[in-house]
Amino acid sequence: MKQGTLCMANRDTPPSLHVAAHSREARPLHVAIIMDGNGRWATGRGLGRSAGHRAGGDAVHRIVEAAPALGIGALTLYAFSAENWRRPAAEVSALLALFQRYLRLETPRCVEQGVRVSVIGRRDRLPALLRAAIERTEAATLAGGRLHLRLAIDYSASAALERAAAAAARRGSEPVDLRALLAEVLGTGGAVPDVDLLIRTGGEQRLSDFLLLECAWAELYFTPVRWPDFDAAALASALALFERRERRFGGLEAVRRGAPGVRP
Ligand code: FPP
Repeated sequence: MKQGTLCMANRDTPPSLHVAAHSREARPLHVAIIMDGNGRWATGRGLGRSAGHRAGGDAVHRIVEAAPALGIGALTLYAFSAENWRRPAAEVSALLALFQRYLRLETPRCVEQGVRVSVIGRRDRLPALLRAAIERTEAATLAGGRLHLRLAIDYSASAALERAAAAAARRGSEPVDLRALLAEVLGTGGAVPDVDLLIRTGGEQRLSDFLLLECAWAELYFTPVRWPDFDAAALASALALFERRERRFGGLEAVRRGAPGVRP
């Protein structure tokens, strides 16, 4: 496929975003984001932490809208870690209610825009109504081919790896594809390519148990911008920097995205 054939920018895309989209090669990117800084965004404005999460929900909407035009084919967002249960009950409830509201309001739009939504993480600890909303959204958006949006809720990469390893052990001496097993235990209906670019907002520089295997060769991008302030232009800047990175995957030659036999 010729360079640029995947350019998905349209007339509504701001000029700065066209630049990033035009430099795309054949394979759409998998971008993962640790959405950090909601609490500080809110308290810095004299608001409660839940107001920060609500503003974070608006940022999710904006980034999902912008992603396809920037050449992103898979977007995995860290919405709630397995450790986040340790937060005060009121904050946990507000977050879970926000996820449910997001799914209810955004599902028709996702269907219209070809966005497939999957949720990765444990489901058994989620409220029944949220589980039902997840199932409805996943079923309604299954055919979406423009963007695969994966929301990580009650997610822990190490726990997922442990479950995949246990599944591998049950299969005895059969050779295993750990990534395929991971996709199976996470229930997202098939593997997605490894992460190309991992973004963390909010100024911290750690992985926080997010997509540890899938980020094996990810480029890392840390920004002090708090998640509610992260917008399409900030995403385009991160992608522009990513485009300038030379990815060698342990070899000596820069590897073009999508080159055969090379991960991801
Ligand atoms: C981390 O910021 C953020 C979270 C634990 C929750 C992320 C959730 C959202 C962005 C809400 C909307 C999501 C969806 C999918 C609709 P923090 O609270 O730890 O911030 P702090 O480090 O400033 O305290």
